[in-house]
Amino acid sequence: MLPFLRSELARCQPYHPNLGGTGMAMDILDTNECPYDLPTDLKQTLADRYVEAIAANRYPDGSHTDLKAAIVDYLSEQTAGQWQPGPEHVTVGNGSDELIRSILIATCLGGQGSVLVAEPTFSMYGIVAETLGIPVVRIGRDPQTWEMDLAAAETAITQTEGTPVRLCFVVHPNSPTANPLTEAEKDWLRQVPPQILVVIDEAYFEFSGETLLAELPQHPNWLITRTFSKALRLAAHRVGYGIGDPQLIAALEAIRLPYNLPSVAQLAATLALEARSQLLSAIPGLITERDRLYRKLQVVSQLQVWPSASNFLFLKTQSSSQTAALAAQLKAQGTLVRHTADGLRITIGSPAENERTLAHLQTAITQSLPATV
Ligand SMILES: Cc1ncc(COP(=O)(O)O)c(C=O)c1O
Repeated sequence: MLPFLRSELARCQPYHPNLGGTGMAMDILDTNECPYDLPTDLKQTLADRYVEAIAANRYPDGSHTDLKAAIVDYLSEQTAGQWQPGPEHVTVGNGSDELIRSILIATCLGGQGSVLVAEPTFSMYGIVAETLGIPVVRIGRDPQTWEMDLAAAETAITQTEGTPVRLCFVVHPNSPTANPLTEAEKDWLRQVPPQILVVIDEAYFEFSGETLLAELPQHPNWLITRTFSKALRLAAHRVGYGIGDPQLIAALEAIRLPYNLPSVAQLAATLALEARSQLLSAIPGLITERDRLYRKLQVVSQLQVWPSASNFLFLKTQSSSQTAALAAQLKAQGTLVRHTADGLRITIGSPAENERTLAHLQTAITQSLPATV
């Protein structure tokens, strides 16, 4: 360990993007992106606007004015008429990953708080917390329904010893397990005391169609985060946003880097929202494919697969070693999936990719898993 590095960094592990490295063309089904690129006409508009309207020698708009206006317009459709969002309710990050870091800095840094997560869940919350020396309180979930252990959550936020919980991350629907928040979980979030920030990560909102946005004004200690990396097809551009009480948004704006989002990324996200009906029109087809895959996998005796409210499926075999073997065999055949939480998270791809997933799974199961019936 280099003598000038903080000693706790010795424990930190980087997030390992699974980049294949097999030398063959792969079906990339490990990162929950949309399988379809931006339509060419939209890419062309982006390229033209780059040439015409972006001065490469100038810093980007550090206030994200146009992008925030486009986000506000989009959000206004989703509040069920309960309230009118404005730019003061919105902060924009270099991916929602950047927002996760800002949120942790704003709430827990310097020994002031610990963060609560219900595992399995999105790993970046714990990874980023650890890089900042922030303690992570991990509770479990029901292994059949994946509902959070709410009794453990309540104990964690009321315990009086150690660093108090100041922040709680939930994902709606969760990754990797694909379940949306239940009514009991939502009720628990509604009564979390005001000294604890609740982050509701709605990265997959466009697939689930479920959001807690309408309730946001009643809960100044809630922040909803979203991303352009999934349904809006802009993973390459790294854009995420958070919606919350203006005072909370002002704090997050104050601690972010001034030019956190390149001009082209801001433009791409603004154009994507303008073209949202075109981009989001792929979602019903992806959901039909997801449900088709789910039904096919549900009858495979060696697998347990869970219903999904998102654009991916989570499944397990009877043992961790079998699951690891399955992931390796899928990769060897050209299907990249995420091996996590003792299971496989498989992104829904194009119909052709999904057909290959089914065929590769069948081959892998025949080769390595004993039948249970
Ligand atoms: C639940 C969840 N939140 C956030 C992110 C990160 O999104 P972004 O690409 O905006 O950083 C992901 C990415 O996989 C995710 O699954």
